[in-house]
Amino acid sequence: MSNDKTLTKRRGFLKASLAVGTGVSGALTSNSASAQSNTFLEIDPWTKTQGATFVNPPYGLPSKYEKEVVRRLPNPAPIFLTASRTPIQNLHGIITPNGLHFERHHAGVPDINPDQHRLVVHGLVDRPMIFSMENIMRFPSESKIYFMECSGNSAAELKRSANNTAQQIHGLISCCEWTGVRVSTLLQECGIKPQATWVLAEGADGAAMTRSIPLSKMLDDAILAYAQNGEMLRAEQGYPLRLFLPSYEGNMSIKWLRRLKLGTEPWQTREETSAYTDLRENGKALQFTFKMEVKSVITQPSGMMKLKSKGFYEISGIAWSGNGKIRRVEVSTDAGKTWQEAMLQEPVMDKSLVRFRYPWVWDGAPAVLMSRAVDTSGDVQPTMEALIKTKSANTFYHNNAIQPWQVAANGEVTNGR
Ligand code: CO
Repeated sequence: MSNDKTLTKRRGFLKASLAVGTGVSGALTSNSASAQSNTFLEIDPWTKTQGATFVNPPYGLPSKYEKEVVRRLPNPAPIFLTASRTPIQNLHGIITPNGLHFERHHAGVPDINPDQHRLVVHGLVDRPMIFSMENIMRFPSESKIYFMECSGNSAAELKRSANNTAQQIHGLISCCEWTGVRVSTLLQECGIKPQATWVLAEGADGAAMTRSIPLSKMLDDAILAYAQNGEMLRAEQGYPLRLFLPSYEGNMSIKWLRRLKLGTEPWQTREETSAYTDLRENGKALQFTFKMEVKSVITQPSGMMKLKSKGFYEISGIAWSGNGKIRRVEVSTDAGKTWQEAMLQEPVMDKSLVRFRYPWVWDGAPAVLMSRAVDTSGDVQPTMEALIKTKSANTFYHNNAIQPWQVAANGEVTNGR
Protein backbone atom coordinates (compact mmCIF):
# COMPACT_ATOMS: atom_id res chain seq x y z
CA MET A 1 0.00 0.00 0.00
CA SER A 2 2.67 2.41 1.01
CA ASN A 3 4.51 1.48 -2.20
CA ASP A 4 1.48 2.58 -4.21
CA LYS A 5 1.18 5.83 -2.32
CA THR A 6 4.83 6.64 -2.93
CA LEU A 7 4.45 5.86 -6.64
CA THR A 8 1.49 8.23 -6.88
CA LYS A 9 3.55 10.96 -5.28
CA ARG A 10 6.34 10.20 -7.72
CA ARG A 11 4.09 10.66 -10.76
CA GLY A 12 2.84 13.93 -9.39
CA PHE A 13 6.35 15.06 -8.70
CA LEU A 14 7.59 14.37 -12.23
CA LYS A 15 4.49 15.98 -13.79
CA ALA A 16 4.99 19.14 -11.76
CA SER A 17 8.65 19.52 -12.72
CA LEU A 18 7.97 18.94 -16.42
CA ALA A 19 5.03 21.33 -16.56
CA VAL A 20 6.64 24.22 -14.71
CA GLY A 21 10.09 23.70 -16.14
CA THR A 22 11.81 24.72 -12.94
CA GLY A 23 13.20 22.25 -10.46
CA VAL A 24 10.84 21.43 -7.65
CA SER A 25 13.74 19.57 -6.12
CA GLY A 26 17.44 20.31 -6.14
CA ALA A 27 17.98 17.09 -8.07
CA LEU A 28 16.66 18.87 -11.16
CA THR A 29 17.85 22.38 -10.32
CA SER A 30 21.00 22.36 -12.44
CA ASN A 31 19.14 21.34 -15.63
CA SER A 32 16.43 23.88 -14.98
CA ALA A 33 18.98 26.63 -14.37
CA SER A 34 20.61 25.87 -17.73
CA ALA A 35 17.24 26.01 -19.47
CA GLN A 36 16.53 29.42 -17.95
CA SER A 37 19.83 30.88 -19.16
CA ASN A 38 19.13 29.50 -22.66
CA THR A 39 22.30 27.38 -22.64
CA PHE A 40 20.50 24.06 -22.60
CA LEU A 41 20.03 23.82 -26.37
CA GLU A 42 23.35 25.38 -27.36
CA ILE A 43 25.65 23.18 -29.42
CA ASP A 44 28.48 21.77 -27.32
CA PRO A 45 32.07 21.64 -28.68
CA TRP A 46 31.98 17.84 -29.05
CA THR A 47 29.04 18.11 -31.44
CA LYS A 48 30.93 20.52 -33.73
CA THR A 49 33.96 18.34 -34.46
CA GLN A 50 34.73 14.92 -35.86
CA GLY A 51 34.94 12.30 -33.07
CA ALA A 52 37.62 9.66 -32.70
CA THR A 53 37.43 7.34 -35.72
CA PHE A 54 38.25 4.24 -33.73
CA VAL A 55 38.94 3.61 -30.13
CA ASN A 56 42.52 3.60 -28.99
CA PRO A 57 43.55 1.34 -27.30
CA PRO A 58 41.75 -1.37 -29.32
CA TYR A 59 40.48 -2.99 -26.13
CA GLY A 60 37.89 -0.43 -24.97
CA LEU A 61 38.11 1.32 -21.63
CA PRO A 62 35.52 3.18 -19.54
CA SER A 63 35.07 6.92 -20.15
CA LYS A 64 37.75 9.05 -18.48
CA TYR A 65 34.95 10.63 -16.45
CA GLU A 66 34.42 7.29 -14.69
CA LYS A 67 37.98 7.02 -13.36
CA GLU A 68 36.80 6.93 -9.73
CA VAL A 69 34.92 3.68 -10.35
CA VAL A 70 37.70 1.28 -9.45
CA ARG A 71 38.46 -1.58 -7.09
CA ARG A 72 39.62 -0.31 -3.73
CA LEU A 73 41.27 -1.61 -0.57
CA PRO A 74 39.54 -1.72 2.80
CA ASN A 75 40.23 0.95 5.37
CA PRO A 76 42.83 0.85 6.85
CA ALA A 77 44.69 -0.86 4.01
CA PRO A 78 46.37 -4.07 5.18
CA ILE A 79 50.18 -4.38 5.15
CA PHE A 80 49.95 -7.28 2.70
CA LEU A 81 47.68 -6.46 -0.18
CA THR A 82 45.58 -9.57 -0.52
CA ALA A 83 42.11 -8.31 -1.42
CA SER A 84 40.49 -5.50 -3.37
CA ARG A 85 36.81 -4.67 -3.37
CA THR A 86 34.12 -4.12 -5.98
CA PRO A 87 32.58 -0.59 -6.14
CA ILE A 88 29.03 -1.96 -5.71
CA GLN A 89 27.66 1.55 -5.05
CA ASN A 90 28.65 2.61 -8.62
CA LEU A 91 27.29 -0.41 -10.48
CA HIS A 92 23.91 -0.95 -12.15
CA GLY A 93 21.89 -4.09 -12.74
CA ILE A 94 23.51 -7.32 -11.55
CA ILE A 95 26.63 -7.96 -13.66
CA THR A 96 30.08 -7.03 -12.38
CA PRO A 97 32.43 -5.90 -15.19
CA ASN A 98 35.54 -8.07 -15.33
CA GLY A 99 37.91 -5.28 -14.36
CA LEU A 100 35.87 -4.59 -11.21
CA HIS A 101 35.38 -8.13 -9.89
CA PHE A 102 36.77 -8.25 -6.36
CA GLU A 103 40.15 -9.91 -5.89
CA ARG A 104 41.37 -12.17 -3.12
CA HIS A 105 44.56 -14.11 -3.43
CA HIS A 106 47.06 -15.59 -1.01
CA ALA A 107 50.38 -15.37 -2.85
CA GLY A 108 49.81 -12.85 -5.60
CA VAL A 109 48.63 -13.45 -9.16
CA PRO A 110 50.67 -16.02 -11.12
CA ASP A 111 51.53 -15.38 -14.77
CA ILE A 112 50.45 -18.66 -16.39
CA ASN A 113 51.03 -19.55 -20.03
CA PRO A 114 47.84 -21.36 -21.06
CA ASP A 115 49.74 -23.54 -23.52
CA GLN A 116 51.79 -24.92 -20.65
CA HIS A 117 48.98 -25.18 -18.11
CA ARG A 118 47.75 -28.67 -17.17
CA LEU A 119 45.00 -30.08 -14.98
CA VAL A 120 45.67 -33.42 -13.31
CA VAL A 121 42.78 -35.64 -12.13
CA HIS A 122 43.84 -38.57 -9.95
CA GLY A 123 43.12 -40.47 -6.72
CA LEU A 124 39.99 -42.61 -6.66
CA VAL A 125 39.35 -42.59 -10.40
CA ASP A 126 39.48 -45.44 -12.92
CA ARG A 127 41.71 -43.49 -15.32
CA PRO A 128 43.99 -40.76 -13.91
CA MET A 129 44.33 -38.10 -16.61
CA ILE A 130 46.20 -34.93 -17.49
CA PHE A 131 44.31 -32.27 -19.48
CA SER A 132 45.68 -29.35 -21.46
CA MET A 133 43.54 -26.23 -21.91
CA GLU A 134 42.92 -27.34 -25.47
CA ASN A 135 41.59 -30.68 -24.17
CA ILE A 136 39.30 -28.97 -21.65
CA MET A 137 37.88 -26.53 -24.16
CA ARG A 138 36.83 -29.38 -26.47
CA PHE A 139 34.27 -30.62 -23.91
CA PRO A 140 30.65 -29.40 -24.05
CA SER A 141 30.43 -26.06 -22.23
CA GLU A 142 27.82 -24.08 -20.33
CA SER A 143 27.44 -20.44 -19.28
CA LYS A 144 25.70 -19.44 -16.05
CA ILE A 145 25.28 -16.22 -14.11
CA TYR A 146 26.34 -16.69 -10.51
CA PHE A 147 27.37 -14.48 -7.61
CA MET A 148 30.69 -15.00 -5.88
CA GLU A 149 31.19 -13.82 -2.30
CA CYS A 150 34.25 -14.09 -0.07
CA SER A 151 33.23 -15.58 3.27
CA GLY A 152 35.17 -12.72 4.88
CA ASN A 153 32.94 -10.13 3.21
CA SER A 154 31.57 -7.57 5.72
CA ALA A 155 33.60 -9.27 8.47
CA ALA A 156 35.10 -6.07 9.89
CA GLU A 157 31.58 -4.79 10.62
CA LEU A 158 31.18 -7.33 13.41
CA LYS A 159 33.50 -5.07 15.39
CA ARG A 160 32.24 -1.83 13.72
CA SER A 161 35.25 -0.99 11.56
CA ALA A 162 36.37 2.37 10.18
CA ASN A 163 34.84 1.45 6.82
CA ASN A 164 32.08 3.67 5.58
CA THR A 165 31.27 2.99 1.92
CA ALA A 166 29.27 0.05 0.61
CA GLN A 167 32.43 -0.93 -1.28
CA GLN A 168 34.67 -0.91 1.78
CA ILE A 169 32.15 -2.80 3.92
CA HIS A 170 30.53 -5.23 1.47
CA GLY A 171 32.68 -5.11 -1.69
CA LEU A 172 33.82 -8.74 -1.61
CA ILE A 173 30.75 -9.66 -3.69
CA SER A 174 30.55 -9.82 -7.48
CA CYS A 175 28.35 -11.47 -10.09
CA CYS A 176 29.35 -12.60 -13.60
CA GLU A 177 28.46 -14.98 -16.37
CA TRP A 178 30.88 -17.91 -16.04
CA THR A 179 31.60 -20.29 -18.93
CA GLY A 180 33.29 -23.65 -18.70
CA VAL A 181 32.89 -27.40 -18.49
CA ARG A 182 30.85 -29.14 -15.82
CA VAL A 183 33.20 -30.87 -13.36
CA SER A 184 30.89 -33.90 -13.60
CA THR A 185 31.63 -34.17 -17.35
CA LEU A 186 35.37 -34.30 -16.73
CA LEU A 187 35.10 -36.69 -13.77
CA GLN A 188 32.92 -39.07 -15.79
CA GLU A 189 35.65 -39.08 -18.43
CA CYS A 190 38.06 -40.28 -15.72
CA GLY A 191 35.60 -42.70 -14.09
CA ILE A 192 34.69 -42.14 -10.42
CA LYS A 193 35.43 -45.03 -8.06
CA PRO A 194 32.36 -45.83 -5.89
CA GLN A 195 34.11 -45.17 -2.56
CA ALA A 196 35.07 -41.54 -3.49
CA THR A 197 33.24 -38.86 -1.44
CA TRP A 198 35.59 -35.84 -1.35
CA VAL A 199 37.70 -33.98 -3.89
CA LEU A 200 40.89 -32.02 -3.23
CA ALA A 201 41.30 -28.95 -5.46
CA GLU A 202 44.72 -27.31 -5.74
CA GLY A 203 45.77 -24.04 -7.34
CA ALA A 204 49.00 -23.36 -9.26
CA ASP A 205 49.68 -20.08 -7.41
CA GLY A 206 52.54 -19.59 -4.97
CA ALA A 207 50.21 -20.45 -2.06
CA ALA A 208 49.13 -23.70 -3.75
CA MET A 209 45.67 -22.82 -2.42
CA THR A 210 44.05 -26.13 -1.52
CA ARG A 211 40.56 -27.00 -0.31
CA SER A 212 38.49 -30.16 0.23
CA ILE A 213 35.12 -30.21 -1.53
CA PRO A 214 32.31 -32.76 -1.18
CA LEU A 215 32.07 -34.91 -4.34
CA SER A 216 28.30 -34.34 -4.29
CA LYS A 217 28.85 -30.61 -4.86
CA MET A 218 31.33 -31.29 -7.64
CA LEU A 219 28.77 -33.50 -9.40
CA ASP A 220 25.90 -31.07 -8.78
CA ASP A 221 26.71 -27.65 -10.29
CA ALA A 222 30.51 -27.14 -10.14
CA ILE A 223 32.17 -25.71 -13.25
CA LEU A 224 35.73 -25.71 -14.55
CA ALA A 225 35.52 -22.10 -15.71
CA TYR A 226 37.77 -20.56 -18.35
CA ALA A 227 35.66 -17.54 -19.31
CA GLN A 228 33.95 -14.68 -17.54
CA ASN A 229 31.43 -12.27 -19.07
CA GLY A 230 32.25 -13.48 -22.56
CA GLU A 231 36.05 -13.33 -22.52
CA MET A 232 38.78 -15.52 -21.10
CA LEU A 233 39.27 -15.18 -17.33
CA ARG A 234 41.30 -12.26 -16.07
CA ALA A 235 44.65 -13.29 -14.56
CA GLU A 236 43.46 -12.31 -11.07
CA GLN A 237 40.37 -14.51 -11.52
CA GLY A 238 42.35 -17.66 -12.18
CA TYR A 239 43.49 -17.52 -15.81
CA PRO A 240 43.46 -19.85 -17.61
CA LEU A 241 41.30 -22.19 -15.47
CA ARG A 242 39.46 -21.99 -12.18
CA LEU A 243 37.00 -24.05 -10.25
CA PHE A 244 33.66 -22.35 -9.72
CA LEU A 245 31.39 -23.56 -6.91
CA PRO A 246 28.08 -21.67 -7.07
CA SER A 247 26.87 -20.39 -3.66
CA TYR A 248 29.95 -21.60 -1.76
CA GLU A 249 32.41 -19.27 0.00
CA GLY A 250 34.68 -17.78 -2.65
CA ASN A 251 37.88 -19.26 -1.25
CA MET A 252 36.78 -22.76 -2.34
CA SER A 253 36.47 -21.82 -6.02
CA ILE A 254 40.17 -22.57 -6.50
CA LYS A 255 41.84 -20.31 -9.04
CA TRP A 256 44.63 -21.35 -11.42
CA LEU A 257 43.37 -24.91 -10.94
CA ARG A 258 46.03 -27.55 -11.54
CA ARG A 259 44.87 -30.65 -9.63
CA LEU A 260 41.77 -32.56 -8.56
CA LYS A 261 42.23 -35.62 -6.35
CA LEU A 262 39.36 -37.87 -5.34
CA GLY A 263 39.40 -39.42 -1.85
CA THR A 264 37.25 -40.61 1.03
CA GLU A 265 37.60 -37.74 3.52
CA PRO A 266 38.66 -34.08 3.70
CA TRP A 267 42.42 -33.42 3.67
CA GLN A 268 42.38 -30.88 6.56
CA THR A 269 44.38 -28.33 4.59
CA ARG A 270 45.69 -25.09 6.07
CA GLU A 271 42.82 -23.03 4.65
CA GLU A 272 40.16 -25.27 6.22
CA THR A 273 41.78 -25.60 9.66
CA SER A 274 43.72 -22.43 10.54
CA ALA A 275 41.38 -20.18 8.53
CA TYR A 276 37.89 -20.24 7.04
CA THR A 277 36.52 -21.83 10.23
CA ASP A 278 33.95 -20.27 12.58
CA LEU A 279 34.98 -19.94 16.23
CA ARG A 280 32.13 -20.38 18.72
CA GLU A 281 31.71 -19.26 22.35
CA ASN A 282 32.97 -22.60 23.75
CA GLY A 283 36.31 -22.15 21.98
CA LYS A 284 35.51 -24.79 19.37
CA ALA A 285 35.34 -23.92 15.70
CA LEU A 286 32.93 -25.06 13.03
CA GLN A 287 34.63 -26.42 9.93
CA PHE A 288 33.31 -26.73 6.39
CA THR A 289 30.68 -23.99 6.55
CA PHE A 290 30.44 -23.67 2.81
CA LYS A 291 27.28 -21.88 1.86
CA MET A 292 26.93 -18.09 1.70
CA GLU A 293 23.62 -17.18 3.31
CA VAL A 294 20.77 -14.83 2.42
CA LYS A 295 21.92 -11.20 2.26
CA SER A 296 21.19 -7.80 0.76
CA VAL A 297 22.59 -4.29 0.84
CA ILE A 298 21.28 -0.95 -0.33
CA THR A 299 23.84 0.53 -2.72
CA GLN A 300 21.92 3.72 -3.67
CA PRO A 301 22.04 5.73 -1.53
CA SER A 302 24.82 4.36 0.66
CA GLY A 303 27.71 5.40 2.89
CA MET A 304 29.56 8.64 2.02
CA MET A 305 26.96 9.74 -0.54
CA LYS A 306 24.93 12.91 -0.09
CA LEU A 307 21.27 13.58 -0.87
CA LYS A 308 21.33 17.08 -2.30
CA SER A 309 17.73 17.97 -1.50
CA LYS A 310 14.37 16.65 -0.33
CA GLY A 311 12.22 14.78 -2.81
CA PHE A 312 12.11 11.60 -4.82
CA TYR A 313 14.85 8.97 -4.67
CA GLU A 314 14.88 5.43 -5.93
CA ILE A 315 16.41 3.24 -3.25
CA SER A 316 18.25 0.43 -5.01
CA GLY A 317 20.45 -2.46 -4.02
CA ILE A 318 21.52 -6.05 -4.50
CA ALA A 319 20.37 -9.29 -2.83
CA TRP A 320 21.57 -12.88 -3.06
CA SER A 321 21.42 -16.26 -1.33
CA GLY A 322 23.40 -19.49 -1.54
CA ASN A 323 20.15 -21.35 -0.85
CA GLY A 324 18.78 -20.47 -4.28
CA LYS A 325 16.57 -17.61 -5.37
CA ILE A 326 15.64 -14.44 -3.56
CA ARG A 327 11.91 -14.51 -2.84
CA ARG A 328 11.46 -11.04 -1.36
CA VAL A 329 13.39 -7.94 -0.29
CA GLU A 330 11.90 -5.50 2.19
CA VAL A 331 13.05 -1.94 2.73
CA SER A 332 12.72 0.15 5.87
CA THR A 333 13.25 3.91 5.95
CA ASP A 334 12.62 4.19 9.70
CA ALA A 335 15.40 2.03 11.19
CA GLY A 336 13.41 -1.20 10.99
CA LYS A 337 10.20 -0.07 12.68
CA THR A 338 8.19 -0.68 9.49
CA TRP A 339 9.05 -2.61 6.33
CA GLN A 340 7.74 -2.30 2.76
CA GLU A 341 8.23 -4.74 -0.08
CA ALA A 342 10.71 -3.68 -2.76
CA MET A 343 10.39 -4.53 -6.46
CA LEU A 344 12.66 -7.36 -7.64
CA GLN A 345 14.01 -6.60 -11.08
CA GLU A 346 14.07 -9.46 -13.61
CA PRO A 347 15.91 -11.70 -14.06
CA VAL A 348 15.61 -13.32 -10.63
CA MET A 349 17.95 -16.31 -10.88
CA ASP A 350 19.32 -19.08 -8.74
CA LYS A 351 22.55 -18.18 -6.84
CA SER A 352 22.79 -14.87 -8.66
CA LEU A 353 22.59 -11.27 -7.57
CA VAL A 354 19.15 -9.74 -7.96
CA ARG A 355 18.54 -5.99 -8.18
CA PHE A 356 15.80 -4.54 -5.96
CA ARG A 357 14.27 -1.07 -6.19
CA TYR A 358 12.02 0.94 -3.94
CA PRO A 359 10.59 4.43 -4.56
CA TRP A 360 11.09 6.87 -1.69
CA VAL A 361 10.30 10.50 -1.09
CA TRP A 362 12.71 11.97 1.43
CA ASP A 363 11.07 14.63 3.59
CA GLY A 364 14.39 16.07 4.79
CA ALA A 365 14.23 14.51 8.27
CA PRO A 366 16.95 12.13 9.52
CA ALA A 367 16.22 8.57 8.39
CA VAL A 368 17.75 5.13 8.65
CA LEU A 369 17.56 2.97 5.51
CA MET A 370 17.72 -0.83 5.70
CA SER A 371 17.06 -3.79 3.44
CA ARG A 372 16.12 -7.33 4.48
CA ALA A 373 16.17 -10.27 2.06
CA VAL A 374 14.18 -13.50 2.26
CA ASP A 375 15.12 -16.51 0.10
CA THR A 376 13.09 -19.39 -1.33
CA SER A 377 14.14 -21.65 1.56
CA GLY A 378 12.44 -19.20 3.93
CA ASP A 379 15.68 -17.91 5.45
CA VAL A 380 15.45 -14.25 6.52
CA GLN A 381 18.46 -11.91 6.66
CA PRO A 382 19.16 -11.30 10.37
CA THR A 383 19.97 -8.14 12.30
CA MET A 384 23.53 -7.95 13.64
CA GLU A 385 22.22 -8.59 17.18
CA ALA A 386 20.35 -11.73 16.04
CA LEU A 387 23.36 -12.96 14.07
CA ILE A 388 25.70 -12.64 17.05
CA LYS A 389 23.11 -14.31 19.31
CA THR A 390 22.57 -17.31 17.00
CA LYS A 391 26.20 -17.68 15.97
CA SER A 392 28.81 -16.14 18.27
CA ALA A 393 30.46 -12.89 19.25
CA ASN A 394 33.58 -14.56 17.84
CA THR A 395 31.98 -14.68 14.41
CA PHE A 396 34.22 -13.39 11.64
CA TYR A 397 33.22 -15.15 8.42
CA HIS A 398 29.70 -15.33 7.01
CA ASN A 399 28.39 -11.96 8.20
CA ASN A 400 25.04 -11.57 6.41
CA ALA A 401 23.54 -9.03 8.84
CA ILE A 402 21.27 -6.15 7.80
CA GLN A 403 23.18 -2.95 6.90
CA PRO A 404 21.69 0.32 8.20
CA TRP A 405 22.53 3.57 6.40
CA GLN A 406 21.97 6.75 8.41
CA VAL A 407 20.67 9.75 6.45
CA ALA A 408 21.32 13.02 8.31
CA ALA A 409 19.16 16.16 7.97
CA ASN A 410 21.87 17.66 5.73
CA GLY A 411 21.57 14.64 3.42
CA GLU A 412 24.85 13.00 4.34
CA VAL A 413 24.71 9.20 4.37
CA THR A 414 26.89 7.28 6.82
CA ASN A 415 27.27 3.77 8.17
CA GLY A 416 24.39 3.47 10.66
CA ARG A 417 25.91 0.74 12.75
CO1 CO B 1 32.71 -20.87 5.99
